[in-house]
Amino acid sequence: MNKDHNMNSDHQSNRLLILVGSPRRDGNSAALAEAARRGAETAGISAELLFLDDHIKHFLTDLRHAPAPDDGYDELFLRHFLPARGVLFCTPIYWYGMSAQTKAFFDRSFSHYAGSGNGPEDVKTRMQGKRLGLAVASEETYPGAALGIVHQIQEFARYTHSDFVGFVHGAGNSRGEIAADPRQPLLAAQALGAEFFTRKYSDYRIETPRSHTVWESPAAAPTARA
Ligand SMILES: Cc1cc2nc3c(=O)[nH]c(=O)nc-3n(C[C@H](O)[C@H](O)[C@H](O)COP(=O)(O)O)c2cc1C
Repeated sequence: MNKDHNMNSDHQSNRLLILVGSPRRDGNSAALAEAARRGAETAGISAELLFLDDHIKHFLTDLRHAPAPDDGYDELFLRHFLPARGVLFCTPIYWYGMSAQTKAFFDRSFSHYAGSGNGPEDVKTRMQGKRLGLAVASEETYPGAALGIVHQIQEFARYTHSDFVGFVHGAGNSRGEIAADPRQPLLAAQALGAEFFTRKYSDYRIETPRSHTVWESPAAAPTARA
């Protein structure tokens, strides 16, 4: 593993990392990821799309008794995840949760977070303050199928002082079938990619200063009455 990850200084630049947690290279999560990448690049955002199972071959081990597994996780986490200011997780729904590949991404971060990897304090700092997004593909269309995953990303965002800026859910089962979903999740993913660093994000506390309107010119916004 390269030891100079601390030298990455581009955390503030608008780099979007898109992580796909499906083994299918031409599947529905990959289609959402590709759409987001297209949107990002159209908007001038530098985006990188990676498949998690190209990098993760093992689950988290008992770090007291064994070294961290020797696969591409360290490289993925230190050189791709930490420097990215935005990260979009794209996962199929497996048993009403995220895929094992996607879950392993979070679990394996513990080896760095807990001090078994390089520069633990630096790691904790650099895990914070990102913009995070989620795109899920499932066979079922009902929104509840995705809620467990939404909740997990929301809690990860809260824990890392990050902003959970967007969520897209599309339905399909065969490879690429998500393109036929009439709710047009690919268009939504494209828009999310394009607006990843500019989309309005609000999560109020009682003391949050705010105006009474959500959008700058509510009068100009299209309404159902129009
Ligand atoms: C192991 C496994 C579990 C699944 N569990 C669910 C599920 O709980 N709910 C659902 O709607 N679809 C479920 N599906 C269907 C996938 O979410 C669906 O086919 C999705 O489009 C696959 O995405 P992909 O093409 O990116 O792999 C499951 C598929 C597999 C292989």
